[in-house]
Amino acid sequence: NTKVWKVDKYVDNLESNPHIVDAAHFLKENEVVAMPTETVYGLAGNAENDEAVAKIFAAKGRPADNPLIIHIAEQEQLNRFVAEVPEKAAILMDKFWPGPLTIIFKMKEGVLSEKASAGLGTVGVRMPDHPVALALLKVSGLPIAAPSANSSGKPSPTTAGHVLDDLEGKIAGVVDGGPTGVGVESTVIDCTETVPVILRPGGVTKEQLEAVVGEVHIDPALTNEAAKPKAPGMKYRHYAPNAPLYLVSGTRGFLQGLAAEKRAEGLRVGVLTTEEHADEYEADVVLTCGRRAELETVAAALYDVLRRFNEQQVDVIFSEMFPYEGVGYAIMNRLEKAAGNKVIKE
Ligand code: TXA
Ligand code: MG
Repeated sequence: NTKVWKVDKYVDNLESNPHIVDAAHFLKENEVVAMPTETVYGLAGNAENDEAVAKIFAAKGRPADNPLIIHIAEQEQLNRFVAEVPEKAAILMDKFWPGPLTIIFKMKEGVLSEKASAGLGTVGVRMPDHPVALALLKVSGLPIAAPSANSSGKPSPTTAGHVLDDLEGKIAGVVDGGPTGVGVESTVIDCTETVPVILRPGGVTKEQLEAVVGEVHIDPALTNEAAKPKAPGMKYRHYAPNAPLYLVSGTRGFLQGLAAEKRAEGLRVGVLTTEEHADEYEADVVLTCGRRAELETVAAALYDVLRRFNEQQVDVIFSEMFPYEGVGYAIMNRLEKAAGNKVIKE
């Protein structure tokens, strides 16, 4: 009973596409539907309606203390529920919206469903750079709350198939606009302080942000496990495949040695690598995510590859690591969470 609306994101006039109009109708009726964005699929619902927001939390099994990102199609929509737009936030919006950047603002009370903001007094907002998402936002005319459309704890969905694997029967529908592009979620930046703070690394890199607003801090919790993260979602184990995942710091020969050792114990071993080095490994399941030389391709393929290890029923997974620069920072953040920070050093 979950509808699937297939939509070609490249056609003109998406706003009059009957599938978009139908899906937007469900949103206006306070039902929840999954939609593609340029990062991952989101589970969309009317951000001003308690019932719709409650359905989002229920479908995902999401902890109530984890606030939702609000999606808009026009900057003017901010006036309705954002208390103030600091200068640096204005610069960031002009430069990166629509795009994979979520900005945290002080919130006007009493407009959005209280459940959406988890009582923080602030609100994260972004304008997605995806024609299907923008069309849905425009046709519904609503501010749309949309967390990633996965079951809580699972890797975020980058295809409509991933959404259905997790949420079929639990949501009204999914707009299938094909695979998403960036593959990891938006960067979350807190602009309520003088120096903006990155709360979650993502599609827009620290380097890109600093180029337009100068100094940008990183939430200490991202590098220090003991610190309390300012984005509540960052404290949860996330993206985890079923089998234990180990990040391997060292040579490929070292990783192969670990794989060989576990196979000798009779375990079914998975290796996560990239196209450049796939031939060098001998294991039960060797999966590649993109090309190391272009980290954007690794980000795009990462969640799909984590989900595919589950289908392959491996007992243990060893993964290569990636440089902590550019989008590699977001890739490593997600891999560390998926691995529960298990790193084996040579
Ligand atoms: O790319 C994305 O951002 C995707 C697509 C669908 O837009 N959405 C997404 O939403 O990743 P979600 O709910 O899976 O992750 C939202 C993150 C969580 O870590 C949450 O704690 C944080 O943003 N967040 C949301 N509102 C916040 C706020 N007011 N203050 C601090 N962190 C906030
Ligand atoms: Mg999520």
